[in-house]
Amino acid sequence: MKIAMVGSGYVGLVSGACFADFGHDVVCIDKDQSKIDRLHDGVMPIYEPGLDALVESNVAAGRLSFTTDLAEGIAGAQAIFIAVGTPSRRGDGHADLSFVHAVAREVGEKLANDAVVVTKSTVPVGTGDEVERIIAETGCNHRVAVVSNPEFLREGAAIADFKRPDRIVIGTEDDFGREVMREVYRPLFLNESPILFVSRRSAELIKYAANAFLATKITFINEIADLCEKVGANVQDVSRGIGMDNRIGPKFLHAGPGYGGSCFPKDTLALLKTAEDYDSPIRIVEAVAKVNESRKRAMGRKVIDALGGPEAARGKKVALLGLTFKPNTDDMRDSPAIAIAQALGDAGVNVAGYDPEGMEQAAPLMPEVQMCKSPYEAIEGADAIAIVTEWDAFRALDFPRVKALANAPVLVDLRNIYKPDHMLAAGFTYLSIGRS
Ligand code: UGA
Repeated sequence: MKIAMVGSGYVGLVSGACFADFGHDVVCIDKDQSKIDRLHDGVMPIYEPGLDALVESNVAAGRLSFTTDLAEGIAGAQAIFIAVGTPSRRGDGHADLSFVHAVAREVGEKLANDAVVVTKSTVPVGTGDEVERIIAETGCNHRVAVVSNPEFLREGAAIADFKRPDRIVIGTEDDFGREVMREVYRPLFLNESPILFVSRRSAELIKYAANAFLATKITFINEIADLCEKVGANVQDVSRGIGMDNRIGPKFLHAGPGYGGSCFPKDTLALLKTAEDYDSPIRIVEAVAKVNESRKRAMGRKVIDALGGPEAARGKKVALLGLTFKPNTDDMRDSPAIAIAQALGDAGVNVAGYDPEGMEQAAPLMPEVQMCKSPYEAIEGADAIAIVTEWDAFRALDFPRVKALANAPVLVDLRNIYKPDHMLAAGFTYLSIGRS
């Protein structure tokens, strides 16, 4: 089956490469000529473990190709995926659908055969109707079914998430749409991944509801962590204790500095906008978004307290280890490290930073931070070290070396990757999240 993937960003590229790996014939299309040129040279536009090898082997097998020419890319494709960005619209938090609409128009104008047009981009409820209307307006006279197929890929684990999904959600009321989508996902279905067929609007809402629920789970445990610190409890034990209840589940209960990334912050805001538009407020998500925003800066204050408070902190140095919003990505979008560095900078603290993959993306977003080539360079002369992202590279720091380099052995572990008693035994003043 021939599949066209319009948009070769994170979602489009991972999905396209995985579909090709399942034996489909995939063309990835992108307007960005330099991105397509680099892909032709085997250079990935993003860091995602395993993606370069997957792309390389499928290009070599002749199943995956790249082009900037939409008409050429969609020619003969039975399924055309729209996987372009839907950033937060400046000013109001609504999802900006201009890229999705532009692709729909171009597809309608250039379509030369019957096809299913699939929105994979995260789009608000009703966008499928819009896409259908736009395609009809172009005068396209081929049979077209517009289907919603949200993605549930986590950055850093996207290939595994694609190949072994908990579920595949397909939103359509159209028989042609259902038939083609079943064919698209047949290799996964044979792997026993459940396919859930629902209405298009339900599929669109499932995506936002899933992300908002996960964001809520994280925010809930973050606030429980704060309470743990006050009452002398251990949030990891509490997480385990509630997560063993099957109705709650153990995942997404790791307390930390607040969620970031390209999805949760943007998607919770977009869901709130939809709720407002339909006069159906979701107050729990309103609270989650607010609590998470303030938490990131509060983490800066936590580090300042570790330095002895605002007065003592002025002029001191902090090493930030981990700048990306999570490990195994170079994505800096809405990373807690940005707000933490700003809070430290505003308090007159000098900040040195290191990240295994995100330095290039981080530098322009954190101009006040001195970027270092290794964790140890950042730690040199530091009065406190803060672990912001749980990269594996920070899980076994050389503590004698850290102590020798740092000005003071103070470690603020915002991801709870170390054990308090080990750190005390190693001679550190150790602060973490939700553990006294
Ligand atoms: C998230 C969802 O997990 C995916 O299912 C979804 O497809 C994706 O958004 C999307 O909409 O495209 P992602 O943003 O890549 O994926 O990363 P997550 O692993 O979900 O982490 C998001 C944030 O929550 C990170 O900042 C992470 O550190 C934080 N987090 C996650 C916690 O603080 N605690 C946890 O227990 C889990």
